[in-house]
Amino acid sequence: MQTNNNCIVIFGASGDLTHRKLIPALYNLFKFGRLNKFSVLGVARSELNDDTFREKMREALLETEETTPETLDAFCSHLYYQAVNTSDAADYGKLVPRLEELHTKYQTNGNTLYYMSTPPSLYGVIPECLAAHGLNEEKDGWKRIIVEKPFGYDEKTAQELDVQIHRFFEEHQIYRIDHYLGKETVQNLLVLRFSNGWFEPLWNRNFIDYVEITGAESIGVEERGGYYDGSGAMRDMFQNHLLQVLAMVAMEPPAIINANSMRDEVAKVMHSLRPLTQDDVEHNLVLGQYTAAEIDGKEVKGYLQEKGVPANSRTETFMALRCEIENWRWAGVPFYVRTGKRLPARVTEIVIHFKTTPHPVFSQNAPENKLIIRIQPDEAISMRFGLKKPGAGFEAKEVSMDFRYADLADEQVLTAYERLLLDAMKGDATLFARTDAVHAAWKFVQPILDYKDAGGRVHEYEAGTWGPVAAEKLIAKSGRVWRKPSGKMKKKV
Ligand code: BG6
Repeated sequence: MQTNNNCIVIFGASGDLTHRKLIPALYNLFKFGRLNKFSVLGVARSELNDDTFREKMREALLETEETTPETLDAFCSHLYYQAVNTSDAADYGKLVPRLEELHTKYQTNGNTLYYMSTPPSLYGVIPECLAAHGLNEEKDGWKRIIVEKPFGYDEKTAQELDVQIHRFFEEHQIYRIDHYLGKETVQNLLVLRFSNGWFEPLWNRNFIDYVEITGAESIGVEERGGYYDGSGAMRDMFQNHLLQVLAMVAMEPPAIINANSMRDEVAKVMHSLRPLTQDDVEHNLVLGQYTAAEIDGKEVKGYLQEKGVPANSRTETFMALRCEIENWRWAGVPFYVRTGKRLPARVTEIVIHFKTTPHPVFSQNAPENKLIIRIQPDEAISMRFGLKKPGAGFEAKEVSMDFRYADLADEQVLTAYERLLLDAMKGDATLFARTDAVHAAWKFVQPILDYKDAGGRVHEYEAGTWGPVAAEKLIAKSGRVWRKPSGKMKKKV
């Protein structure tokens, strides 16, 4: 499906996300001929004009993308800028003639994609201000609005935000972006599960012992201390990205691949998460915060010394949770999920641990059967199983069969933002979070937020380690251990 001609309005155009992710994504889509006629109107408070905005974006693209002067010039000629005081409804009037002019010039029939890449405090304001000038109305072309995360701050604020946006945009116009859903390997999970005959029969409580999901980052909070401190690992990574990944692992096959059918299944998983009790938050949850350490001979700051972080902050930079899904497929199977900053590697992976044989014929320590789905980096799938160790006797050793995405070198793999922007322009919301799933996710994590607010323990861990010792104990209670992946899926992980 091709995109319709359209105008993309980016609110927060002078911000980080715009030049780091959105403009590069649009540039690549343009370069590979994936866009029809389009214009990009950057909107922010800063007093830029078309030329200065183009210049800034050009510099950013030169830094990160492979460019040629011709494509760069051609792309930048589609960029425009309008300074607006984004909290003043009257000022949005300036957008009306600008958009009219662009719609005419690019024959976009009024089709407009609004991207809210602003501080979250504006997510409720922008739709109302647009509506004050009729810019939400679909009588002349479609109007869609992309909302960046975080969608709300907790269960209550997420509901309030929904009410605010729904006053001016209908659900089919709202695209809640979760860039993890745009990752090729996350989507591949569905194809792996539902287009092969041999995984699905084993994909349940009868054969799976437990599931591990890791979203590890080696970087700290970098320059984002101010934002991160109000968020923490739970809101920044777990409530959205990792729960969406968990839903992809656990969902039932959708009746058909379309936005509603897929998102019905995701929502069912979210609703089936066993509610966390007080006992769970005390014994099946570990929160942590990194402390200063030396990594590879370099001094690394602790979280409390990071810029923008209050010296007494209790914000968690790590969390690990054991949770369960209460349905026929998964009853009793633990899902261990962890995420953190300043861990030893940047790696996101899912490990499906299968049950052992009912009786150990060859050796007491036969290798476990597991399927490792590496989401990033070095996207790969690795099956681990036991085979005979050469030589006398019948000792089993672990071997692996690996598939690496890099082997499909001739395919042009879209980055997450490229894929999701393209889908939004096509009107395909399959890979965007739907309101019911977002609320169910907030509802599920609310006891964690309450626990922390009530003074729940935040353990320390040294930067460069796999989190607090308590996280090891959490999984060790059932005789299991976390996998300690390296950042590479080369030969042996
Ligand atoms: C973002 C978080 O949503 O995801 C960041 O705000 C985090 O803190 C990032 O670093 C991780 O994304 P990725 O694609 O690098 O795994």
